[in-house]
Formats: sequence, C-alpha cells, structure tokens
Amino acid sequence: MINKIISLLKQHVSDLPSQINPDFSFSDFGLDSNASISIAAALSQYVGFEISAIELQKYESIRSAAEEIVRKMGGNSNSDEKIKEKEFNDENGSNSENEGKKQKKDKKDKKKSKKQKNSQFSSSAPSKRVYSTVEEYYIIPKIPEVHKETKRMDLMKRVVGSDVPYLRISDGVNDDQIIIESKPYINYTSYNYLGLSGDKRVTRFAQQCIARFGTSVSSSRVVGGTRIIHYQLERALASMVGAEDALLYVGGFMANESTIGHFMKEPDLIVYDILAHSSIVQGNRNSHATAIPFPHNDVAALDQLLIKQRKYHKKCMIIAEGVYSMDGDVCDLPGLIEIKKKHKAILFIDEAHSIGVMGDHGRGVGEYFKINTKDVDLWMGTLSKSFASCGGYIAGTHSLIDFLRGTSPGFIYSAGMPPAQVGAALASAMIIKKEQWRVQKLHKNAEYFKDLLIERGFNAGNSGLGSVIPCIIGTSENTLRLADHLHKRGVEASPYYAPAVEEGKARIRFFISSTHTFEELKFTADVMKEEFDIILKHKLGDNQVKDPSYRKRWKGGAKKQVVDTVAKIGVGIVLASIILFLIWVLY
Ligand SMILES: Cc1ncc(COP(=O)(O)O)c(C=O)c1O
Repeated sequence: MINKIISLLKQHVSDLPSQINPDFSFSDFGLDSNASISIAAALSQYVGFEISAIELQKYESIRSAAEEIVRKMGGNSNSDEKIKEKEFNDENGSNSENEGKKQKKDKKDKKKSKKQKNSQFSSSAPSKRVYSTVEEYYIIPKIPEVHKETKRMDLMKRVVGSDVPYLRISDGVNDDQIIIESKPYINYTSYNYLGLSGDKRVTRFAQQCIARFGTSVSSSRVVGGTRIIHYQLERALASMVGAEDALLYVGGFMANESTIGHFMKEPDLIVYDILAHSSIVQGNRNSHATAIPFPHNDVAALDQLLIKQRKYHKKCMIIAEGVYSMDGDVCDLPGLIEIKKKHKAILFIDEAHSIGVMGDHGRGVGEYFKINTKDVDLWMGTLSKSFASCGGYIAGTHSLIDFLRGTSPGFIYSAGMPPAQVGAALASAMIIKKEQWRVQKLHKNAEYFKDLLIERGFNAGNSGLGSVIPCIIGTSENTLRLADHLHKRGVEASPYYAPAVEEGKARIRFFISSTHTFEELKFTADVMKEEFDIILKHKLGDNQVKDPSYRKRWKGGAKKQVVDTVAKIGVGIVLASIILFLIWVLY
C-alpha cells in the first residue's frame, strides 16, 4: 500500500525527490487540493471503498495512511500488504526490528511524558516515531519543502538563466508602465486596476493623513488606535458593497485568515471552491472545522456535497471568490445564494479581484449579478488592488461586525491600519464613486486584450471582463521562456506554473488596468504571438541564436513620446526666452 500511495504521489506531484520517505506527511511533499482529490479518487478505486481528499491530508504520514487503509481493508500482520511493506522498508533502509524496538521505546516515552504533563518542561514531541535522527528534519537544505523550492528555482534558472522573473526591482508607480533598470516596460504585474495609485488626489490625501495622524496609529484599534478616518472608510466600504457595516484589517490575507479561522470551529463545516486563495485555506486550517473543497465553480457538485455532509455539522460556511485570481473567471453568485438558502449555510465571498472591477460602478459581483446584497453574509475585500492601498475588510450585518470588532484576534491583537493607507483607500473609494469611466475603461481594455489573444490563437480561459486575464500556455518550460522573451522585448508579465497552477496549465497572468492604452495592449499581443511562434519552432536551449533582444523592443509608446515631446518643447521655450532676455539686456 505504501508503494501504491508513493507511486500515485509521483504521478500527481511534480519535482519530488527520487526517494520518498513514507514517514513524511502529504503536505511535506506540497500536496495541493487538486492533487489530493486525484490521489484520493485513484486510491478509492484501487481499494474499493471511498477515501476522501480531506481524510488523506489528515494522516500524519504516508505510512499511517497506508496502515489505516490496510486495516480498513481487513488486512492483518500476515497479509500480503504487510509483507510488501516490509520489503519496501528494507529497501529503504528502514529495519522492521528496529521499528519494533522504536515503537516499544515510544510507548515508554509516551507514559513518561504523561507523567511530566504538569511539568513546565514536559516534552510535547509527537511520541509515535523518533524523528530527531532523520536528517530531513534538521538539515535545512534536506527538509522536503526546502528541497522542493530549490528544485523549482533550478528549473527556472535552467530555462531563463540568472534573470529570474520574480522579485525584480522596479522604479516609479506600479501602473501600465514601469521602469526596470532604467528601461520602460509595459506592465501587467500591477494590482493598480483603476490607476489610483499615483493619482495626485489620492497621494495628497494620504500625505494629509500622515501629517495629521502620524505614520502609524501606534496601537491596536481597540485601545487608542482608532481615528475618524477608520470609521469613514468602514462606512464607505459598507455602503459600496451594500452591507450594514464593515471592519478593517491590516491586510486582505489577514482578513481572510483571521475571520474564517475565528468564526468557524469544530464541529462546523467549511465548503470552499478548490481554487480558493491561500489566505482562505489558511483560515480553514486555523478554524479546525471540517474543510472540504468543491470542484471549481461547480454549484451542482457543491449541492451534492452538502446533501451528504451538511446535516452532521453545526455552522456551515460556503466560501467562493468574486473573480478568481489565477483564472479571472466570475463565480456563479446566484447559484451559490440558492445553495446557501437550501442548505441553511453562511455565504462568504472574497472580492479581492472583483471590488472596484465588476459591475457598472465597480461595486463588485453583487452589482454585476444584481442580487440582493444581504444574501451574502460576509463580503470580504482587499484594499491593495482597486483602492490603491494596503489592507482588507469584512462587511456584513451590524451583529456580525460587532461580533468581529469585539472578538476577532486579527483585529484586536494587531495594530490598526496606518493613516496613509486608510487615507489612500478612502480617497480612492470617493474617486471610484465619482469617476465611473475608470471601471468602464477597464472593462473595455480587458475585452480588447482578451480578443487580441484569442485572435492570435491563445487560450485566455474563462476570464470575464475583469482585471485578471490568464494566457494558458501549457508546459512550465514554454511559459517561463515566453515570459523571459516578453521581458527582453519590454513587456513585464509574470509566469505561473505547478504547483501554483495545475500541471500542464502553466500560464502568463496579465493584470489589466484602466490606464493601459490600446497601443500597449496591441503591442503585447503581437509580441506574444511572434515570440511564442519562435519558441515553438526552436528547441529549448537555443536562446543565443534566437535572442529576443535583437527584435523591436517597447520604447515607451505614443503616450510617453507625447510627454517627451511636450517636455522638449517646454525646455526649448525656456532656453529661447533666456537667450532673448540676455540679448535684450546686453544690447
Ligand atoms: C483572492 C484573494 N484573497 C485575498 C488576497 C490577499 O490580499 P492582500 O494581498 O491585500 O493581503 C489575495 C491577494 O492577492 C487574493 O488574490
């Protein structure tokens, strides 16, 4: 059984070490929700009874999963399975005699640690196995998670050389264009969806807030850290999404992690879209509730899941995103509301990528679907995107927000949002309300760019008219290579590959802003096509011959050229005036 599980793991998780230690847990090998569902399905078929993905992830190690499955199959110490396991252990240098001794010793240790329970220095180490001598648990490069990341970086360097496409230092405002090492790039790595970061009014109000309240509120909101602008922003956000009240957190990640982790607990149930953001998954873990993913945007599957599971749990929360961050597709909000009502569940919608973006006025997916916004119990959003700031919020009824304001650890035990950040978000919220054209321009840009990609034969997935447009390339190598070619031609867009997205669906993700010009979007789509054709024609490693730097690079576009020309004319006028003045004085 151990061999079977390891072979399934190797099929579904990339870049694993050649020797898999069965005493490691699934999460040690970076098993994500997609892979665990596939492995659980294959195992269920193999053993003839259902094993769920959640169950699989709960096992302490591959070995304990195998032992439990064998036990459920009715296996005993003489069964074939056990013999095979012994063979496997011997092959991997794990001697069963030693294991027996270890286990006896562990039992003794367990008794001993019970006795020490009340002692301040009692050991809390897991008592079943001795891990302390296993190198993979104390030599940092050998720790499986660390090793996996090293392999991921190796792949990247092998494909693109030393110019790794992450953590590049850029200069200026993160907008439709960006400066990297003094060169202009058309930029698709920015959350600045409405161009409000860099807007003079937003900057000025943030500066005024610093001047009046300082750079920090220097305290928790609860005790001395609340300023009038906090309440003003909370009211503005609540009114924008159509909720009674809202509560600010210092980050969007924190808003999810803390709220879900705190609001839900055992024996509650969380059902969440399988593509949910990491902050939601962390919140699920913190909650200790039973958390089960449902297939992406599949409301019928969610219904089936709840038919089976809902009755055994107290509270039940359905979690989905307004617009999904890797695919840019929109959730089926009316469908989710129907299911929520049918199963008496609480609905949580993460609007990180939909607030300020979806709906004619940018009020989010509630406006887009024209639903009754009170049908969503928790509206979550971030301030780091359309609001040109940093922070997060939860909006809902007065009773929900009062409860969170009084008890949520991420709110109470964290300093309040800093004045500049609150000021920037507040000014942005006002501008979004007044300047509807920004949202409309964003929609037009998204539609135009998606069409350009499709016309050139690319797969832009099911992205809507929001700010996230993926271009699904396929293999990690081709994706990394294409992003590198784009960079060399003056287009900055980030590549994503397994495990961030499903194997074989590696992609370049474009964040579209209202500030992108059609000229920039067209140049990008053309360069994508040219470079991808070249990549497909030539073998990997052929980079020198086909170096993209020799082809036409982005020089700054008409917008920049107009600015440059105006600047040049201005300098010319000033110089001419000085010369004329000097001539007049001298003669
Ligand atoms: C769907 C989703 N939720 C939450 C977050 C976290 O937000 P923040 O980066 O503002 O902390 C992100 C981040 O991009 C996100 O994509």
